[in-house]
Amino acid sequence: MAKIAIMGLGVVGGGTADLLTENREKIRAACGEYLDLKYILDIRDMPESPYRDLIVHDIAAIADDPEVSVVAETIGGVRHAYEHTVRLLKAGKSVVSSNKQLVSEHGVELLALAKEHNCRYLFEASTGGGIPLIGPLSRDLSHNEITEISGILNGTTNYILTRMRDGGVGFETALAEAQQKGYAERDPSADVEGTDACRKISVLAATAFSKLIPPAKIHTEGITAIRQSDVSAAASVGAAVKLLGRAIRRGAECFVFVAPFFVPKTSPLSHVDGVYNAISVTGNYVGDVVFYGRGAGAKATASAVVADLCAAVSGAGPAPVWEAAEEGFPTEFGTFSCSRYLAFSGVDRNAVRVVFGDVEFISGAEGEVAFLTPQQTECECADGIARLSVGGGQLLSMIRVYEVGERPEA
Ligand code: HSE
Repeated sequence: MAKIAIMGLGVVGGGTADLLTENREKIRAACGEYLDLKYILDIRDMPESPYRDLIVHDIAAIADDPEVSVVAETIGGVRHAYEHTVRLLKAGKSVVSSNKQLVSEHGVELLALAKEHNCRYLFEASTGGGIPLIGPLSRDLSHNEITEISGILNGTTNYILTRMRDGGVGFETALAEAQQKGYAERDPSADVEGTDACRKISVLAATAFSKLIPPAKIHTEGITAIRQSDVSAAASVGAAVKLLGRAIRRGAECFVFVAPFFVPKTSPLSHVDGVYNAISVTGNYVGDVVFYGRGAGAKATASAVVADLCAAVSGAGPAPVWEAAEEGFPTEFGTFSCSRYLAFSGVDRNAVRVVFGDVEFISGAEGEVAFLTPQQTECECADGIARLSVGGGQLLSMIRVYEVGERPEA
């Protein structure tokens, strides 16, 4: 029997305790031994909780107990989570985490500490909620050159974009609906500004490339500027607007960023609606693999936490080491090339053709000129926008177009 602990009895910690209790026998079969929850660290007493007798307030109770071998960190945030994780790893206890912020900011150090102290630092639950992603990337697909990871990594924004399309409502109304349904926080900025997706693509890119790019160095755009007319324009060309986290390797180039995209119907990602997540991974032998499921929620995320608890207890799976990304990695975003949807007021089609060349005009909102540009880099596009602005044009929207890659041979 393995003695374990949970730090933080919030949504994910509570779901983890429930799963350990409800599926005790299934977990024993999976791990080869029972996982016995000995402590829960929380600042609250929680007298109503069924786990109240397990609650301790001092990390020393867990760190100094030689019986405890594995600890789940479901605290969130960095300060306490970081301090406790370092202390536990130095004591030789494995830590499994649902904390994308901690992994994306301190993953290099924490993985190195785990290796040094002969224990594990695992974080399946940090990205994609219940969807197994880190395990498949670091084990089943690790012999492939991963050329691309592109995914809908945030359920809140995907719900908002889905409502803007299906309900014909604007961003603010869709956000209010999401908050009413409990899909968005009262302060939704981490979701709608792309920060949450940024942390997740940082973790996925590091898992694929063994180099951690901290969130501060990842180009990140959210969805706050997206208008209902942009979503309709996308639909008019058979696409859906999706916020994507992307990590793309093209030869010596590597782009890692978060931004909204027009995703054509031919991509499975365009059909992922509501709060669901989906992540497409491309390997040089396996081709495209798409993972789909619940990216958040107590039960789904607890499933990923317990998968890691089992791996830590049984010693299964790889123990990766990451490097800090060197200067020049990822590639300067200004050189990223794609087609883009642009919507302007105060310009005519001739002016657009003179500046952007062979564009495809599409239906936009009244009084606007909307079009798809040919492939060009970020810098080239910014230059074109500046030239049209000098001529009196006003840019209303810019959304990149996702290019569906070649499918693997059947
Ligand atoms: N708000 C996040 C989401 C929660 O919607 O995906 C999981 O990170």
